[in-house]
Amino acid sequence: MGRWWPSRLLLGLLCAVVSAGLVGRTDGGVTSSFVRKAEKGVDMPIDSDVFSVPPGYNAPQQVHITQGNHDGSAMILSWVTEDEPGSSKVLYGTDKDQLDFYAEGKYTRYKFYNYTSGYIHHCTLRHLKHDTKYYYAVGIGHTIRKFWFTTPPEVGPDVPYTFGLIGDLGQSHDSNVTLTHYESNPKAQTVLFVGDLSYADTYPNHDNVRWDTWGRFVERSTAYQPWIWTAGNHEIDFAPEIGETVPFKPFSHRYHVPYRSSGSTAPFWYSIKRASAYIIVLASYSAYGKYTPQYQWLEAELPKVNRSETPWLIVLMHSPWYNSYNYHYMEGESMRVMFEPWFVKNKVDVVFAGHVHAYERSHRVSNIAYNIVNGKCKPVPDESAPVYITIGDGGNLEGLANNMTEPQPDYSAFREASFGHAIFEIKNRTHAYYTWHRNQDGNAVAADSMWFYNRYWKS
Ligand SMILES: [Fe+2]
Repeated sequence: MGRWWPSRLLLGLLCAVVSAGLVGRTDGGVTSSFVRKAEKGVDMPIDSDVFSVPPGYNAPQQVHITQGNHDGSAMILSWVTEDEPGSSKVLYGTDKDQLDFYAEGKYTRYKFYNYTSGYIHHCTLRHLKHDTKYYYAVGIGHTIRKFWFTTPPEVGPDVPYTFGLIGDLGQSHDSNVTLTHYESNPKAQTVLFVGDLSYADTYPNHDNVRWDTWGRFVERSTAYQPWIWTAGNHEIDFAPEIGETVPFKPFSHRYHVPYRSSGSTAPFWYSIKRASAYIIVLASYSAYGKYTPQYQWLEAELPKVNRSETPWLIVLMHSPWYNSYNYHYMEGESMRVMFEPWFVKNKVDVVFAGHVHAYERSHRVSNIAYNIVNGKCKPVPDESAPVYITIGDGGNLEGLANNMTEPQPDYSAFREASFGHAIFEIKNRTHAYYTWHRNQDGNAVAADSMWFYNRYWKS
């Protein structure tokens, strides 16, 4: 005993010294002092191999899939042909060498200033069997390309399922590292993407060629796994100076989502059920004030969530409500004021956002007591509140947000200015394990992690 205590004390002191070197402790949680280059990122050159056009006449390119209805028994398949429309047909089946079924899609195209898109095909496969591997072929009649995907298990309260989280990806060298790290995780089954896809709008006249290169870059994942889309500010593409006044034109032509199946009237806010999760996607850049379509939809939507069927209630949005970086500070505030009481009342488990090019995780806090005269405007610990995670650290050309408000606010549990991605691994109705992976580490190394205890089912 006499010998044991000093050695334990020594170990404790050693740990304190080591951790003091790694992190700065402030009023709030932990600010990681992990240091890296702070200069802006550089987009991969247009002739990079990741952007290469698949060989063959009118070969389908930019292939991507997303959930096609509310319960996951449908899949929307999309691709682009450049030479001529070609066929919008998809052949598919469960036997790789025998694609017994077919579905007919449609194509669309659009002009943006002096750019004209290719033929953008969308085809929905319906009545798919759950938890089944399907093979599919597109480019029928010209150059056929084959891919595969696995449908989610039937919706149920204890169905394990693993989501990846990526935001603000862009098409820089860092973006490529992020995607490669995500892909190296064999567990991840679906990407929850929190907005800001291609960053084409950072080019002169929003050069939409960079929408095409982005589609080809991410195809190695998006053709095989559904990516659940959230619209960010870089999807708005509002450019009246060149006569482009229809917001979201490139995004909404290229990326279809199953908004109608959740009763939404626009493709920027919608919901899906997948395995044991209920995922609500909100639109930071569409109206959300009282009486607006999004407000009315969300008000009606939240009571529909049956936690006995889908225990995990996850919300995606682009602009974070709780963000302690000096970038986009308080941009999410007006939406927070509108919807935060509903999130607390309905015990949302976690909110994922992007926009800020860094990583941050909050404690469970709410700030809903304020009523204009009582002065109660400080976030307070709240066990019914979600954890807010900012994961806008995909690695786009704009570079890292590395300037933080000081001291770290009480509500902020962990923050670090690094690129990376996260994994949300649902085990059953009560437990999920969450890990954030910075790009500088291998995929197996978690730079931040926590166990989530379901807000509805926790004891
Ligand atoms: Fe953004």
